[in-house]
Amino acid sequence: MTAHLLSPARLRGVTLRNRIVVPPMCQYSAEDGLAGDYHLVHYGRFALGGAGLVILEATAVVPEGRITHGDLGLWSDAHGEALARTARFLKGQGAAAGLQLAHAGRKASMQRPWFGNGPLGPDDLARGDAPWPVVAPSAVPVDEGWLVPGELDAAAMAALVRAFEAAATRADRAGFDVIELHCAHGYLLHSFLSPLSNWRSDAYGGDRAGRMRFPLEVARALRAAWPEDKPLFVRVSAVDGIEGGLTLDDTLAFAGELRRAGIDLIDCSSGGISGSATAARVQRDYGYQVDFAARIRREAEIPTMAVGLIVDPRQAEAVLAEGRADLVAVGREALADPNWALRARQGFEGWPAQAGWWLERRA
Ligand code: FNR
Repeated sequence: MTAHLLSPARLRGVTLRNRIVVPPMCQYSAEDGLAGDYHLVHYGRFALGGAGLVILEATAVVPEGRITHGDLGLWSDAHGEALARTARFLKGQGAAAGLQLAHAGRKASMQRPWFGNGPLGPDDLARGDAPWPVVAPSAVPVDEGWLVPGELDAAAMAALVRAFEAAATRADRAGFDVIELHCAHGYLLHSFLSPLSNWRSDAYGGDRAGRMRFPLEVARALRAAWPEDKPLFVRVSAVDGIEGGLTLDDTLAFAGELRRAGIDLIDCSSGGISGSATAARVQRDYGYQVDFAARIRREAEIPTMAVGLIVDPRQAEAVLAEGRADLVAVGREALADPNWALRARQGFEGWPAQAGWWLERRA
């Protein structure tokens, strides 16, 4: 019997060869938002390593929407052309090519992690990393010492919807099969959803329906701009994990609306709304977010992807076999071993033909 993990998944017109996904993971290695050789080889390793779907890191739809100066972007045709090479390679190796579209909101203008992972400040100027003004639903900073964001007005929000649409069109032309909309980890769209960061008194704030309004407008616009036969995922922070923050009930309501908007799958992450080290966090243990994927799948009746410390093929197999998610994402463990999917397959079915005859004799 084929393992669930290795069984194909069909989403609209796209068939994933298995259910192992490499989730978006920022590499902070782009120049002016452009993908280069690094991205081709880095992401290419996961396709050679057997993953069913490789989702490229958070890719900003406008320059100010980058987290750091090293983020990928998709605000011009040249950015799309730079990414096309990677998409082509992934598909040539049998993986589906995905891309996460993002705007960092009030968590933009940050230092690359290896320079401190905080807001850009005067010390970063020496490297040429100038800070830039950040925007958010409300003028509420992430934490003490962070930039106070400018509050987005209706015209700026409408322009952002257009930027997401334009980026989706470029992603399609670049050959991507799947887009994931980033509504998690405290970035712009999550900060609209969470009562901790959205203090607006207009139609885009207040109760749950108001806070969901802008993320839903973006999701609907993307669904309309993205080809009918290509799947569209949304990544959520299922809970904020902080008193007064987003709850799973909020996320179940959001997921239901997304399903009605034609979204194909919810990628279930959590946390990130606050930068504070003292803020309550979701406890991190093996499979710590799988329950969110299971409940959203069951209660909002939409396919889900589980992510978060899924490290072992048997553990991943159990998530699928128990019907708790439709896809599993393996992040840091895949960074440590880009052949994670091949190794999983080897555990269930043996190595692929090109190497198997040799590897099976190595003992
Ligand atoms: C991430 N993560 C992440 N999430 C996201 O939605 N967009 C992104 O661009 C990034 N960037 C990123 C960079 C790096 C280096 C890491 C380690 C993580 C979160 C990631 O997709 C995943 O949800 C978490 O890492 C949890 O899964 P694992 O690593 O425990 O399998």
